[in-house]
Amino acid sequence: MEDLKYNEGERLAADYIEGILLPTPTCDLWDQIWNFQAKPDDLLVSTYPKAGTTWTQEIVDLIQNEGNVDHSQRAPTHERFPFIELIIPPLINGLEQANNMPSPRTLKTHLPIQLLPPSFLEKNCKIIYVARNAKDNMVSYYHFQRMNRTLPHPGTWEEYFETFMTGKVCWGSWYDHVKGWWKAKDQHNILYLFYEDMKKNPKHEIKKLANFIGKDLDDKTLDKIVYHTAFDVMKKNPMANYTSMPTEIMNHSVSPFMRKGTTGDWKNHFTVAQNEIFDEDYKKKMADTNLTFQF
Ligand code: A3P
Repeated sequence: MEDLKYNEGERLAADYIEGILLPTPTCDLWDQIWNFQAKPDDLLVSTYPKAGTTWTQEIVDLIQNEGNVDHSQRAPTHERFPFIELIIPPLINGLEQANNMPSPRTLKTHLPIQLLPPSFLEKNCKIIYVARNAKDNMVSYYHFQRMNRTLPHPGTWEEYFETFMTGKVCWGSWYDHVKGWWKAKDQHNILYLFYEDMKKNPKHEIKKLANFIGKDLDDKTLDKIVYHTAFDVMKKNPMANYTSMPTEIMNHSVSPFMRKGTTGDWKNHFTVAQNEIFDEDYKKKMADTNLTFQF
C-alpha cells in the first residue's frame, strides 16, 4: 500500500469493488474490510456521503452520554467514531481504529447495503441510516469533492451533474444506496431517518434516535442536545467541524466542511434545464420504490 503523496493538485486514485467506486486504499484492504467482525453491541451510523453523517454522529454521542457536552469534546468526530472503510495511508486506518476500540463502539460507514460487512447483519447490530434528498446531496458532495483530496476532483458543476446521476462517484449511485438500505430496513435492526426531518423538527428526530438507542432522556437534556447540534453551534465546534483534519486531506479554504447545512440549496446550483433532466431521470430510477423525499 502506497502512502499518500501530495503534490500540488494530486488526488487519491479510485477503483471499483463489485461495480462501486471506492478510494484505491479502501479497495486494497477490501478483504479485511469485508471480513470485519462486528459485535452485537456495536451501533453503526450509515449514510450516503454528505447526507448528514457528522450531525447524526454528534447527536448520537450526546444521547449516549446523556447530554454531557464536555465528554463529546474528548476527540474529533473521526476519532470518536471509526469510519470502518476509510483508509488514508499513513494518516487514517478506520479498520484498525475500530478493531482497537473497546466496546461498546459506535462506528461509521458509507457502504451500500450489498457491500456492508455481513457480520453487522448477522450480529443484528443496531444501525442508523440517514438519507438526504438527491439534489442537496449532490450539491453537498460536489463541494466536498472540491475540498477533499482523498476523493477524485469533481470537475465543473456541469460535469459533476452527469457523474453523480450516473453513479460514478465514490460509494456509488445515490439512487441504489438509499433504495438498498430502505429495502433492508424491514428485515433488520435499522432506523431510517431523513436529513430534512432532522432540519424541520430536530427534537422529534433526536427523541426517535434516543428511543432506538435505548436512552430515556428528559426534556431538558433533549433541548440541550438540540442546541449543541444546531448547525451554527457545530460549525464553531472544533471537535465536530473537521478542522482538525490535516489540510492535506481537507482544505476548508476551498469549501468549508460545515458549508450551509440547509435544505434546498440545490436551487442555487441547478439550472432550469438541469432540473428538468434530473427530474425525468429521477422518476425512472425511483420508479421501483415507495421511498419519497422532501426537496
Ligand atoms: P452542506 O454541504 O449542504 O452544507 P456529512 O456529515 O454526511 O459529510 O454531511 C455534511 C453535510 O451536512 C454538509 O451539508 C454539512 O454542512 C451538513 N451538516 C453538518 N452538520 C450539520 C448540522 N448540525 N445541521 C445541519 N446540517 C449539518
